Amino acid sequence: MQTLRSLISHDRIAARTAELGQQISADFAGEPVILIGVLKGAAIFLADLARQITLDATFDFIAVSSYGSLTQHSGEVKLLKDVDESLEGRNVILVEDIVDTGLTLAYLKKLLWARRPKSLKVAAFLDKPSRRLQPVELDYVGFEVPNEFVVGYGMDLAGRYRNRKDICVLESSKAV
Ligand code: IMP
Ligand code: MG
Repeated sequence: MQTLRSLISHDRIAARTAELGQQISADFAGEPVILIGVLKGAAIFLADLARQITLDATFDFIAVSSYGSLTQHSGEVKLLKDVDESLEGRNVILVEDIVDTGLTLAYLKKLLWARRPKSLKVAAFLDKPSRRLQPVELDYVGFEVPNEFVVGYGMDLAGRYRNRKDICVLESSKAV
């Protein structure tokens, strides 16, 4: 059986998202930005972060899948949906739910740099640095989390729990 233990409350999430939005707004003051959310996990973070950014901002989305089991990355990334717009000369902020091995983000950064943006920054809601296989620079991070599988606030296990307001750790407990 699986049980959920709350790790980060919705109040803390909201406060941190507001801080990140202020930081991004200050860093890009006077310039337009395009936020690119990585579907599906980053959709909820992007929606909250975007409303804390006081710049001229547009959205786009990209979708990838990583091969492997539910909780294990095989290292291979497949592009399922590309962005709709040209990124040339634009300030791009790639919005991710969580950076784990770093393989997905490394793939996406390489892909997006090839589109010749003016700048490319990464906003990751969660960072799980203990599992990193590929070093990757993160510009805006919500929270660092320990080496545990988390769900909620956009993140899932087999599609479930994305609609939870808080971040939870998924624990397997044996029925007695
Ligand atoms: P990567 O291992 O850094 O390439 O992470 C790839 C993707 O795996 C992330 O964008 C998430 O969608 C997913 N992922 C990694 N760790 C977790 C987790 O703890 N919970 C839910 N999804 C995760
Ligand atoms: Mg993701």
